Amino acid sequence: MAARSTVDRRPVARVAVDGGVAMSDLTTAGAGADPAAAPQVPSTARMIDHWLGGTDHFPVDVAAARAFEGAYGPCAEIFRSLRGFLGRTVRHLGAAGVDSFLVFGAGVPTRGNVHEVAPAASVLYTDIDPVTIALGQRILAGSDRAAYTYGDATDLSTIDPALLGRYVPAWGRAPVGVVFLGLAAFLDDATLARTLDDLYAAVPAGSRLAFDFDGMELAGHPQALALMGEGFHMRDPAAFPDLLGRWRPTADGIAPVALWRPDGPPEDVPDAFHGGVAVK
Ligand SMILES: C[S@@+](CC[C@H](N)C(=O)[O-])C[C@H]1O[C@@H](n2cnc3c(N)ncnc32)[C@H](O)[C@@H]1O
Repeated sequence: MAARSTVDRRPVARVAVDGGVAMSDLTTAGAGADPAAAPQVPSTARMIDHWLGGTDHFPVDVAAARAFEGAYGPCAEIFRSLRGFLGRTVRHLGAAGVDSFLVFGAGVPTRGNVHEVAPAASVLYTDIDPVTIALGQRILAGSDRAAYTYGDATDLSTIDPALLGRYVPAWGRAPVGVVFLGLAAFLDDATLARTLDDLYAAVPAGSRLAFDFDGMELAGHPQALALMGEGFHMRDPAAFPDLLGRWRPTADGIAPVALWRPDGPPEDVPDAFHGGVAVK
């Protein structure tokens, strides 16, 4: 298993951008920004779009991605593997009968994101970064099955109930799919546990949660870790079951994402991210 030990794909919170741009909190940098203007601060979600070969990002995101790779090493294969995990979890939920998805910390809705993997399903993407939300709304304009809106994962009341009813039609009536990928690293243990418990309470029995979290990979890469800032949370995989609370992982358990129900030989990438599916 070659390089199972690297980074974390959602590098983030603070990244020193080439060219002297100040360090910025990537998780909240979009707050208050004009979503129509090219952003001055990077977003981890749009850095991932860059690594996935997408076109929905800005020069500042590319600069931050390059700065991170300078401290850590190449990231594209790691994030391709992670996006493959997203696809397998969404297909797994679909096979269990889920056809309504609520996505938190959704990032850019392209490059194998939820509605592309499950084209017959209804999908509501949410995020807190206004620039990424505006990008997502432009990408999804004209879709009658997928939409993008503001939603703070830690407070369900921030999601427009009309959009929730329209794009997650099973909400409150039948099992739904909750996609919580790329987000745990930005929440401390208490907030993460409370957020997952609130979600558990809000969804009907039989609902499923696709989740992942950052392992300890960056502990071996202190320069890259330093770029992530204080708001970045790595976790020992042994600690995660407690954080899931009442959610019950499926028999596949919690695994390095490349090893979770792989379609074939797993990608040879570092075990930067771990995840799985859990059921109410
Ligand atoms: C690393 S990106 C993940 C994007 C996508 N889910 C993926 O896996 O490729 C993390 C995203 O979480 C968003 N985010 C951070 N804190 C959040 C919160 N409290 N609620 C919702 N989204 C949040 C950020 O704005 C960012 O777009």
